[in-house]
Amino acid sequence: MRCLSFTPIAVLQLTLFSVTHGAKWTYSGPQGEPHWTEHYPYCGGAFQSPIDIKSELLRFDPTLHPIELQNYNLSPNEQLTLGNNGHSLQISLPSKMHISSLLHRYTAAQIHFHWGSSSRPAGSEHTVNSKQYAAEMHVVHYNSDKYPNISLAVDKSDGLAVLGVLIEVGEFNPAFDQFLKFISGVKYIGQKVQVPGFNIRTLLPVRLDEYYRYDGSLTTPPCYPSVLWTVFRNPVAISQKQFLSLATSLSSSYAQDSALMPLHSNYRKPQLPDSRVVLVSFKEGKGLHGTLTVTSPLTRKRVIQQLLVGDLADLADEGLYQLLPSGSQKLHAGKRKDHKNWQSEIVAKPKQQSLNPSPWKKNQTNRDVGKLGLAEDTLCYVSVEQRVFHQLRQSHAENQLVQNLRNAVFPELNLKSYLDCKSDLALSTIRHILRGRPSDEAFELDRSLTKALMNQKTTSTPNKQNGPMIKHGGRPSAAVPKKPLSHGYPHPWLLPMEWED
Ligand SMILES: *[C@@H]1O[C@H](CO)[C@@H](O)[C@H](O)[C@H]1NC(C)=O
Ligand SMILES: *[C@@H]1O[C@H](CO)[C@@H](O)[C@H](O)[C@H]1NC(C)=O
Ligand SMILES: [Zn+2]
Repeated sequence: MRCLSFTPIAVLQLTLFSVTHGAKWTYSGPQGEPHWTEHYPYCGGAFQSPIDIKSELLRFDPTLHPIELQNYNLSPNEQLTLGNNGHSLQISLPSKMHISSLLHRYTAAQIHFHWGSSSRPAGSEHTVNSKQYAAEMHVVHYNSDKYPNISLAVDKSDGLAVLGVLIEVGEFNPAFDQFLKFISGVKYIGQKVQVPGFNIRTLLPVRLDEYYRYDGSLTTPPCYPSVLWTVFRNPVAISQKQFLSLATSLSSSYAQDSALMPLHSNYRKPQLPDSRVVLVSFKEGKGLHGTLTVTSPLTRKRVIQQLLVGDLADLADEGLYQLLPSGSQKLHAGKRKDHKNWQSEIVAKPKQQSLNPSPWKKNQTNRDVGKLGLAEDTLCYVSVEQRVFHQLRQSHAENQLVQNLRNAVFPELNLKSYLDCKSDLALSTIRHILRGRPSDEAFELDRSLTKALMNQKTTSTPNKQNGPMIKHGGRPSAAVPKKPLSHGYPHPWLLPMEWED
């Protein structure tokens, strides 16, 4: 079993994990992106970054406040290390710098860049409605409330927060010249120079109140889905000359190598949304008309509680179709017979069972509430990988690591992210929850959902790997069956709710 052990150098150089991991990776050629999963299974897993930030993924979130940064204004006496790690240009940052406006304190570790090439000034990782910018800057922070250093944070689901800044070619940018003027000193891998500190805030866009927010991953191996992403809406500009200096100065070879490999086009392509949405802190501007407002977290919690511990027979009464996403009405009509059978089965059961759950059932349920993230809980990816790998080795199926890892972490990530308003609820997650409920009702509901899911897959083109999902919006959508409220709506998650509750 490969297991990460960290050397001090890895603390500041996320992209150098491969050194300790023992496998080289590149952006092109035989160790390029399609091969990352061979040594880094999470690269083929859930909740990957970057993504294309499409209008239809956006949800306005009125609770997203401006990003607040502390101690970003460094004095020239503080030396920063500028380095070439073979994948990027990186600047180390002192640990007094941090983000203070998130749920936890996130301490700064380093800044690095992704860029295109001299012939193609398009190398940002995040794209906005398919538009790729010339370059992108990442300011990497780790959760220092919970972890003593970035090495221990990098593989935890709440470990990192990265600020993403899109870069376009335009006016000369004096802030970027504070380090670009030293770039010739780090041409080769492993080279480092000291540069005087400066106000790091000046590298960021003027407006820190307008940004995109989503749950994602490192964009380089080992690709852990441990990043809370903030991508600022407004790009910053650097001059054509500055861009060319970034795009043509560096090499991904060692100084002693005979062949010189230029370092450019070091960006990863956009990844699948995986039921995620992108929260936005703003709602005015081009292409934003009609952006939905997210449903409140309280409503979402109620949905999950109903699935975890609620009366599943209620769901039967309302009909299975209500759990299905928009565009499913036709499917439901075709399933009417099944639904009826299922209802009568439940009615025929002795009710006692669900009214007086055995102590075992109660324990089981409580455990699941904890496990599924209603309690404060962190996923550790290295240990999940070890567990899944050992299970697979016993059945001589190690080659299925990528898919099994994905299956192991997707429901938990989806659920956490759903409760945090950053995902729609995937049907595969509902089924995962139902499997933790040892009752006949859960079994039947699961069976019916499985059937519906299979049907859905053949009749529509949903998310490839996780099936359709339930969408929440701030206003009525086609997904909500038109039923009078007086009917006694037992399923609050199907109703568009505003933020009053
Ligand atoms: C990170 O912290 C842990 C626990 O204190 C320690 O064992 C480890 O050596 C630290 N790693 C680095 C690279 O400092
Ligand atoms: C349920 O949990 C309680 C307290 O944790 C324990 O005393 C009891 O034995 C458990 N019941 C079963 C059936 O495991
Ligand atoms: Zn990056």
